Amino acid sequence: MRVCRFASGPFALIALVWSTAATAQPQSFTPWTVPEVSALPRDARGQLIRDGRDMMLATYAHIGPNVADAAKRYAGNNLACTNCHLDGGTKKFSLPLFGIYDEFPAYSARTGGPISIEDRINGCMTRSMNGRALPNDAPEMRAMVAYVEFLSTGVPKGEQLPGLGAGRMKELKRAADPVRGSAVYARLCAACHKPDGLGVLRDRGAPELGYMLPPLWGPDSYNDGAGMARLINFANFIHFNMPHGADYLNPQLTVEQAWDVAAYVLSQPRPKRAGLDKDFPDLLNKPVDAPYGPYADGFGEKQHKYGPFGPIRDAIKKLKSAAGGKQ
Ligand code: HEC
Ligand code: HEC
Repeated sequence: MRVCRFASGPFALIALVWSTAATAQPQSFTPWTVPEVSALPRDARGQLIRDGRDMMLATYAHIGPNVADAAKRYAGNNLACTNCHLDGGTKKFSLPLFGIYDEFPAYSARTGGPISIEDRINGCMTRSMNGRALPNDAPEMRAMVAYVEFLSTGVPKGEQLPGLGAGRMKELKRAADPVRGSAVYARLCAACHKPDGLGVLRDRGAPELGYMLPPLWGPDSYNDGAGMARLINFANFIHFNMPHGADYLNPQLTVEQAWDVAAYVLSQPRPKRAGLDKDFPDLLNKPVDAPYGPYADGFGEKQHKYGPFGPIRDAIKKLKSAAGGKQ
């Protein structure tokens, strides 16, 4: 008889736990992992996808505000897409860009209509990157789109992969508190992002080489119309991803610390985007944490910025059912 040398003692227990976990998966479970860019052939498509990855990892070097060719200065700050879409958009719960390609064209509450993947990337170009839109046929845009498409390789249309977005932790019953948050910031963030929030450039004389540690506010950060300028996005993102190195399996911040430090960072100055009052033409579909008006729900800018969000959601629900009743 052949005896497996691991199937006794403590190893047997581990094997049992593992196989139970494996069979507990729903039957439709199909494992999926991020496809490997480096394995692509060196043909035109392989090169375009590699270019797209470069654009995301070193955005500042290709379309940043300090690149030599003025016509290519699309971004208004020296961030990189990967500062927020971590690991080139492949890390779970850090706003990953895998498995999303087939969702576009998608409805956008911000514009009140359908948007293409190019429009969505330009949403981040004009807000997160505080810059201007790239034309759809610009080589840099085609490269980023090819990369995002590649990150959906093998994902059936309509399938939601686990790990999208930034997570959804419990909300506080009180408003998030910038004063408590400033103490958290000093203890857990300032060593890297610096007490003045301005981060650390790789080379102070050459911003086109980007940041070693990105700024969290100030003139070279994202503007007040960006997704990261909304408390719920920010707090969830840092809960699972900061201090740098944390992930969803090992969160480092408590839920309260995450909300409060988010409030502190978002109370600091950042570039302003003109025309934000025209975002979200249907105000009942405006995210509860949009830090700029107008609003239809009777709550002011402060509660929309710091919460608590429960009462706002209740008010919106009532307005929606009243509007539905009239039709
Ligand atoms: C400051 C942080 C930040 C930076 C920098 C940034 N983004 Fe984003 N991006 C976000 C956030 C936050 C969201 C989700 C916003 C929301 O909830 O509406 C997002 C959403 C997206 C989406 C849609 C994802 C989905 O699930 O549908 C795409 C595509 C995208 N970004 C591409 C880019 C590209 C390309 C760049 C660089 C040119 C970039 N982003 C730079 C924060 C950022
Ligand atoms: C060990 C250093 C380190 C610490 C500590 C740290 N961060 Fe970061 N943070 C980084 C780095 C590096 C990046 C960019 C990641 C990348 O490009 O892969 C980043 C990115 C970010 C981003 C997205 C990019 C941007 O410019 O907004 C936010 C938001 C953020 N950190 C907030 C925080 C907060 C809040 C804390 C404290 C709770 C914190 N970080 C602690 C190193 C750190």
